[in-house]
This record gives sequence, C-alpha cells and structure tokens, in this order.
Amino acid sequence: MRRLFPVTDQTCDQTCDRTDARTEDRTPDRTHDRTDDRAGGVATGQAHWGLDELADAYAYPDGAAPWLRANMVSTLDGAAQHDGRSQPISNDTDMRIFGTLRGLADVVVVGAQTVRQEGYRPARAREAFAARRAAAGQTPAPAVAVVSAGLDLDFTLPLFTSPLAPTLVVTGAAAPADRMAEARKAGAVVVIAGEGAAVAPERVAPVLAERGLTRLLTEGGPRLLGQFVAAGVLDELCLTISPMLTAGDAQRIAGGPAVAVPEKFVLTSVLEEAGFLFTRYRRT
Ligand SMILES: NC(=O)c1ccc[n+]([C@@H]2O[C@H](COP(=O)([O-])OP(=O)(O)OC[C@H]3O[C@@H](n4cnc5c(N)ncnc54)[C@H](OP(=O)(O)O)[C@@H]3O)[C@@H](O)[C@H]2O)c1
Repeated sequence: MRRLFPVTDQTCDQTCDRTDARTEDRTPDRTHDRTDDRAGGVATGQAHWGLDELADAYAYPDGAAPWLRANMVSTLDGAAQHDGRSQPISNDTDMRIFGTLRGLADVVVVGAQTVRQEGYRPARAREAFAARRAAAGQTPAPAVAVVSAGLDLDFTLPLFTSPLAPTLVVTGAAAPADRMAEARKAGAVVVIAGEGAAVAPERVAPVLAERGLTRLLTEGGPRLLGQFVAAGVLDELCLTISPMLTAGDAQRIAGGPAVAVPEKFVLTSVLEEAGFLFTRYRRT
C-alpha cells in the first residue's frame, strides 16, 4: 500500500489568487470546451502542469490499434450530473483536462442524449495543440461522432453544418432512412455499425478505425458508456472525482444492465487540484 495523501504541498487552487480569478471569470462547461490556451494547468504537489505537460501525460499509447478512452466526472456519491448536466459538478481544472483529452483525440464519441441535453457544438481548433495535432497527422480539431438509433437530432445545428472535421452519425442499418438522408444533406457522414436500428457497441471502434480514427475519446453519456463497458471494449477511463455530494437519483457514469463479472482496471495516474481528483485507469 502506498500513501498518496496527505501531500506536503498545497495545490495551486488553495494558494493562488490567479486561479480563483479565472474561475470567477468563466463558468466551466464540460460540453463546450471554452477553456483557453493561456497559462494554467494542474498543480501536482510541487510542479504546476501546463497544457503541454498534460498533453504529454495523457498521450495515447503508440500503435495502430484503436484505443477507446472515456472521460467522465462523478461526485463523491456517484452522480454523473446535477440538474441534468455535468457542468455543476465540474470545475476549471476539470475543463482543462477535458480540453486536453479532446486536443489529443481523433474523434469524440458521444451518445445522442448528451448531444441533445448539453447542446453539443463542434470541437474547436486550439492553438495549444495545433503543432502536436499536425505532427500526428490529425485534423485541427477532433471530429464528433454522435451515436443514435432514432436520429432525432437537429441537423441544422453547427455541430452538423459547420464543424472543422465532418461530424459522424453512427447508427444502425435499419435506422430511419429519411433521417439518414437529412444528416447527409447537412454535411454529416453516416456510419453504419449495427444490423438493426441500434449500434453494436463493439463495432464502434473498428468502423471508426477504418476511417483512420484510432484515438477515440468517449464523453458518455452513461447509457452509451455502460454499453462500451458491457461489451468489454473500454480501454481506459479518465475519471474526475468531484468533491461534492448531491444525493438524489442522478445517473452514475455508466448505466444499463450490470456485467456478469466486474471488469478490472488498474490505476495509472492521479492528479489533484482543489480537492478534485483526476484519475486515470486502464483495463487490465
Ligand atoms: N458526468 C459526465 O461526465 C457526463 C458525461 C456525459 C453526459 N452526462 C450526462 O448524462 C446525461 C445524458 O446521458 P444518457 O446516459 O441519458 O444518454 P447518452 O448515453 O448520452 O445517450 C443515449 C442515447 O444515445 C443513443 N444510443 C445509445 N446507445 C446506442 C446504441 N447502442 N445504438 C444506437 N444509439 C444509441 C440513443 O440515441 P437516440 O435516442 O437518438 O436513438 C440513446 O437515446 C445528461 O444529463 C448529461 O449531462 C454526464
């Protein structure tokens, strides 16, 4: 057993006025990635990590095989949202890591309900990751892949009409044909990953990899993540533990039917700031 806590040094949010001012300036929002590229990062005991250090720390493994990483935030009592959104349980540093993970990904895979409920917009190109992305042969911003069976999505939104990299709509072969046509008309790319209307979760990574998208980041929501877990295809979980309690009946980070045998993950890193823990676990 190792003692990770207490640490001997206070983290930056507890000691620096700068961060407090920044937090007051801007409401963190996990969905809209409004974090900026100015100095900032995570205080890890003695070192203060900027976006470059975070990007190094969270780099995807080398290799051609697709890697499916999830990034989720949970309260201490397991809530994945408050008042129907994740923003109230997030903070500024969580948003920096959220933005960093997007900055490293080829594609952000997200369930349609999260898109509808959180008003997803296209991922944006960020100066801080531009050189890194260019060197890795990536588009300036990750594509967004929306998983949906019903395709009850507003295809007039910028997410579909004006992304930097075309938005993908991942669906089943039997999904409504007229809605697929609407998606295509808006400029989205329809990707089939299931025989019925639903997507087979184990087919998501392979169909995206066929399009050269191997660094996958899923941002949930819980119903989609639960299916990736149940299918045994989640490689990594970047879980923010938010120092809050909400009680109530909010969803957990992964929903749906339980797996027969709990899937084991190993801890690979923990960062801390302002009482938030930024954990990273890999499948064994
Ligand atoms: N804490 C966090 O980190 C976090 C992250 C994300 C979201 N959230 C919260 O989670 C809530 C939304 O999550 P949710 O679990 O209700 O929904 P979700 O997983 O985001 O989306 C569910 C929808 O995705 C589509 N879908 C899922 N699996 C599918 C499959 N196998 N085949 C085809 N389509 C599939 C369906 O869309 P159609 O209905 O269009 O067919 C389904 O209704 C929001 O409150 C959001 O704030 C929290």
